[in-house]
Amino acid sequence: MMIVRTAAELEAITARERRNGHSIGFVPTMGALHAGHISLVERAVADNAFTVVSVFVNPTQFNNPTDLATYPRDEEADIRLLARAGTDLVFMPSVEEVYPGGLEGRKRHEFALGSAAEVMEGKFRPGHFQGVAEVVSRLFELVRPDRAYFGEKDFQQIAVIRNMVASEGIKVDIVACPIKRADDGLALSSRNALLTPEQRAIAPEIHRTLAESVKYAADHSVRATHDTVVEQLDAVPGLEVEYFEIVDARTLQPVEEWDEAPWIVGCITVYCGNVRLIDNICYKQEPC
Ligand code: PAJ
Repeated sequence: MMIVRTAAELEAITARERRNGHSIGFVPTMGALHAGHISLVERAVADNAFTVVSVFVNPTQFNNPTDLATYPRDEEADIRLLARAGTDLVFMPSVEEVYPGGLEGRKRHEFALGSAAEVMEGKFRPGHFQGVAEVVSRLFELVRPDRAYFGEKDFQQIAVIRNMVASEGIKVDIVACPIKRADDGLALSSRNALLTPEQRAIAPEIHRTLAESVKYAADHSVRATHDTVVEQLDAVPGLEVEYFEIVDARTLQPVEEWDEAPWIVGCITVYCGNVRLIDNICYKQEPC
């Protein structure tokens, strides 16, 4: 596995692979890798002749400086996991390599991300999706992948990336991959490493409550389903729901009736102490 730290080297190697007629798969990550990330890498390795993974904690998508400062990092463990998964090249750049001119001097561009970027994460983390679009479009420009792989854990992020790719006219296939969970149901996340043992013990309540609410939804309204999830989770000491929205999976806009859209998901963010956990559940339609 090649370990590359400069943009110029990354561009040169991926250009050579393209010239040789090799398909390129790309998995962008922020590191502190777990089995969720690795499932994306394995899919990319299976689908493509050459697989690139980036490990870069992108400052422009953090609206909270403490969140950025405490974001877990473990470069050595990441390299080990990626090599074992069959990655061909890992890109581990500095901020300057990704943003020529540095964070202050970089060229700025307002991305058209559509109404999918206005709700939920977009509302509670102002600027977050502009930062995600900025880094992902920059990485796409360097790698020029045929396919890029994203996890459904960050359900809204996939919709926003699809909008970004369409509005920027980037030719890449966006592949959505299912959520990987721990045995107790908790969605795997780099941030889980920040949980105390006590917090880790209550965090699975998030998925348990969501999964149970799918049964409840069969004979209750959208509003009642929404309210029961929020009430149950807020009743758990140590958990606090930031938002829970039941939305049209394609537009990410809230629905009021179950027959309003063919594919409906519930997206949630819950604070477990000061760790922000995100998850979602499908209420209606394949591919759930
Ligand atoms: P990060 O949180 O590191 O996630 C990288 C990719 O792994 C994302 O597509 C995410 O949805 C996926 N992922 C994380 N946990 C997962 C799980 N339990 N199951 C399946 N997939 C999972 O998302 C980002 O980084 C950043 O915003 C990024 C796209 C890299 C831009 O900086």
